[in-house]
Amino acid sequence: MTNNVKKVDERLQHIAFIMDGNGRWATARNMPREYGHKNGARVFREITEYCHKIGIKYLTVYAFSTENWKRPKREVNAIMKLLDEYLDRQRPENASIRFIGDVSMLDPKIVEKINKMAEETAGHEYVLNVAMNYGSRAELVTAFNKLLAQGKGEVTEQDINSALYTGDCPDPDLIVRTGGDLRISNFLLWQAAYSELYFTDTLWPDMTSDDVDRAVDAFYSRKRRFGGLDKEPEKKD
Ligand code: IPE
Ligand code: IPE
Ligand code: MG
Repeated sequence: MTNNVKKVDERLQHIAFIMDGNGRWATARNMPREYGHKNGARVFREITEYCHKIGIKYLTVYAFSTENWKRPKREVNAIMKLLDEYLDRQRPENASIRFIGDVSMLDPKIVEKINKMAEETAGHEYVLNVAMNYGSRAELVTAFNKLLAQGKGEVTEQDINSALYTGDCPDPDLIVRTGGDLRISNFLLWQAAYSELYFTDTLWPDMTSDDVDRAVDAFYSRKRRFGGLDKEPEKKD
């Protein structure tokens, strides 16, 4: 653990994590995959706290995808149980927790707790988006249908942005995927247009604040051009 916390600046407001590798982490320990998810949930709480500490304003984490229903029922149930436990815990004092994704497909009791948590934690500067039953394509379809229902015949980028689950958040500056796979897996496809991508072999349950620091350092070593050119040093007359 790092003792001296290095704060981020306005260039890095939003980090998104694809929290991958829980299953492999457990398998490597001869344990069932559910054990990996349990430890993944613990690390999720640690990392969200750490990101707040270093001054991140928006954090988005991919917890369960629209495709993850393909997994064995036992594993899906274990993930839902962990979600339920998370919702029952004491709320963090410093974060607005929002769930993004189609949560209406979850158990109604969980949906009720999700709404309650969102209500009770609203208003904090630090925003934590938990992507649950989230798929970026589904999000876009939902957004377009919302705009059609509003009677829009033609839409702008701004219309689409604000109809997404992440509506009032800036796009992620940095997307981190743990677990070694080099893909996006249907996460924030629209929002990631100019995000910096960082991949690490570290499995999510092994993720530490030092790993976050490494991803942040990598971000600051990148040149973001957004299609333009590097800024030239100021010319002296
Ligand atoms: C990520 O870890 C958590 C979820 C997708 C719910 P995985 O469960 O995908 O772990 P691996 O990738 O199989 O190791
Ligand atoms: C992405 O991981 C989804 C989450 C981390 C919740 P997956 O393990 O589902 O992705 P694929 O199947 O390897 O692309
Ligand atoms: Mg995986």
